[in-house]
Formats: sequence, structure tokens, C-alpha cells
Amino acid sequence: MTLQRTFTIIKPDAVKKNATGDIIKQFQDNGFRILAIKMLEISKHQAEQFYAVHASRPFFNSLTDFMSSGPIVVLALEKENAIADLRKLMGATNPANAEEGTIRKKWATNIEFNAIHGSDGEDTARFELSYFFAGYELAK
Ligand code: CMP
Repeated sequence: MTLQRTFTIIKPDAVKKNATGDIIKQFQDNGFRILAIKMLEISKHQAEQFYAVHASRPFFNSLTDFMSSGPIVVLALEKENAIADLRKLMGATNPANAEEGTIRKKWATNIEFNAIHGSDGEDTARFELSYFFAGYELAK
């Protein structure tokens, strides 16, 4: 299989817990190459645009409040089968169902404050990467 890119966010809960270094190490130990990385804070409006596919969900308001509540770390990652492999490394959305050894098992509090986001398909990866990174920001 050819190299694939995916996008991930270390969410405000994980940044507050000082989990950033551990999570980045897990990306690298699992064969992901970091193409770009930055820490920033996003506004409520920017969180709403990013999560627009969830606009009709009951948790949309609290999700976007949470995502704009403090610093996040966004990364562009590359490896073979990156999208599926990252989701495996992250573990289930609800940490109660996350497997041992996954990032959410270790760092997530509950289904809402769940430490990490990862793209769920090729189209979303493209949208999410381009939402946070310009082409010139990605390593060769
Ligand atoms: P994420 O992978 O970032 O995609 C959408 C997010 O919405 C998800 O992680 C959770 O943080 C949040 N989410 C999903 N389902 C629920 C839920 N049932 N209740 C609260 N938040 C949820």
C-alpha cells in the first residue's frame, strides 16, 4: 500500500494533562512520520466549522465549547494505511470501550473529553488537513 496522510488533534483535555509528549511519542513509535505540527487555540466559530458534519448532533454545542476551551496540538501524519492505523492507535471514541494500550484508554476521561481526534476517511482527512495546514507547511 502507498503512503497515506491523516490529520489528528490532541484535544484541550489531553494538553491540560501534559499528555502531549506521550501522545507524540506514541505516533512516532508506531511508524507515523510527522509532516507538520503546531499548538494553537481555536474560536467557537472555528470549532463549529471544523465539526460541521456534527452540527445536528445533541452534543455539538458542548463539543465546540470544549474544543475552543484551551490550547490544542494539530498534526499532519504520514504512513502506510495512516487513517485506519491512527484510529486503531486512538482506540474507541468512548474510552469505556477502548482497548488496552490505546491513547484513549490511557488519556481520555469520557466520550466527550476523549483526548484525541483522528480523521475517519480519505475525504475528511483531506478537508481536515487543509483546514489547519497550508501546503507549504508540510515537510517534504
Ligand atoms: P471526535 O473523534 O473528535 O469526533 C466527534 C467528537 O464528538 C468525538 O470525538 C467526541 O469528542 C464527541 N462525541 C461523540 N459522541 C458523543 C456523545 N455521545 N456525547 C458527547 N460527545 C460525543
